Amino acid sequence: MNKWSRFCATLWWHQSQQLAYSLPALKALPKSTSNYHLCGAFLVVEEFATIVSLPKERVMASASFLSTIGKRLEGKVAIVTGGASGIGEAIAKLFSEHGAKVVIADVQDELGNSVINTLGGSSNSIYIHCDVTNEDHVQEAVDRTIATFGKLDIMICNAGICDETKPRIIDNTKADFERVLSINVTGVFLSMKHAARVMVPTRSGCIISTASVSSTVGAAASHAYCSSKHAVLGLTKNLAVELGQFGIRVNCLSPYAMVTPMATKVIGLENEEFENAMSAAGNLKGATLKVDDVAKAALFLASDDAQYISGHNLFIDGGFTVCNPKLGMFKYPES
Ligand SMILES: NC(=O)c1ccc[n+]([C@@H]2O[C@H](COP(=O)([O-])OP(=O)(O)OC[C@H]3O[C@@H](n4cnc5c(N)ncnc54)[C@H](O)[C@@H]3O)[C@@H](O)[C@H]2O)c1
Repeated sequence: MNKWSRFCATLWWHQSQQLAYSLPALKALPKSTSNYHLCGAFLVVEEFATIVSLPKERVMASASFLSTIGKRLEGKVAIVTGGASGIGEAIAKLFSEHGAKVVIADVQDELGNSVINTLGGSSNSIYIHCDVTNEDHVQEAVDRTIATFGKLDIMICNAGICDETKPRIIDNTKADFERVLSINVTGVFLSMKHAARVMVPTRSGCIISTASVSSTVGAAASHAYCSSKHAVLGLTKNLAVELGQFGIRVNCLSPYAMVTPMATKVIGLENEEFENAMSAAGNLKGATLKVDDVAKAALFLASDDAQYISGHNLFIDGGFTVCNPKLGMFKYPES
């Protein structure tokens, strides 16, 4: 598409959005409904067809072409490790909505397959049983992705676990420590390694890992978890340097705490209670961190909008890691 047609298409898109929002039928729909934008698109098609006196089908054909403009990962292929649940599931769904073919690599087969069923069937996404600590599994997941979809553009190294926080190091066991490091560090290393194996020859690709605020601050989780997330950041930096020469970007995401099966189990609080406790301990008030917020950050890093971002640790933490709560420096007197 040349610059002029891109400009016209963008203009058309913005005008159609405005038109959609002004249509009485759409105004009557609550914005929260998942069909809001879809309904808007159909109403716009009807309205445009009347304005330009064209059959609805012709307007529809151009509308479906234009709708791809809003899709930021059209034609891309992504693997999401740990994509059967929590943050990984949200990333898999958002990437799929943005046109990517998605491979979920996880050990929870039933859950993984149920997520795949929501992504539009086997031509768009597949589930692969893959324990990220097992190199044969990771190699096989990458090879099956290439065999099925022809390439790998995006590797999301997201699978992870957290152990119980014990106040005294002497109460921590070697077995627990090694179990966490094996999934959170060795798993990320193997996912990065096999992504690089197929990305380097094509001189393109993007690798994103899910680290945590524990990649930079202490005392936000257990010793094992904190060590593991510092290691993910180290791997991210090293690999960004190694793969930069091939045009491959490597970044990581560092979220604060949000409701997922892993987090609620470790903290021992359920949904609303968990969010209230985390909001109280967090820096940014008036907003609650959700898995979708992390998925949107992953989408940004995976998209061409981030084409010159590499070696970066993107915090999704409302300023938690830049704040020293002990000092209370900017507490307003009246609060
Ligand atoms: N939830 C939070 O508050 C939070 C905050 C910061 C970072 N993180 C990180 O986000 C990532 C995802 O965690 P989540 O909170 O969504 O938890 P989750 O438990 O909902 O999801 C983790 C997924 O990883 C999978 N997994 C575990 N071990 C695996 C293995 N050996 N091989 C393949 N898959 C495996 C699980 O089956 C699960 O589907 C983790 O790396 C976690 O450390 C979570």
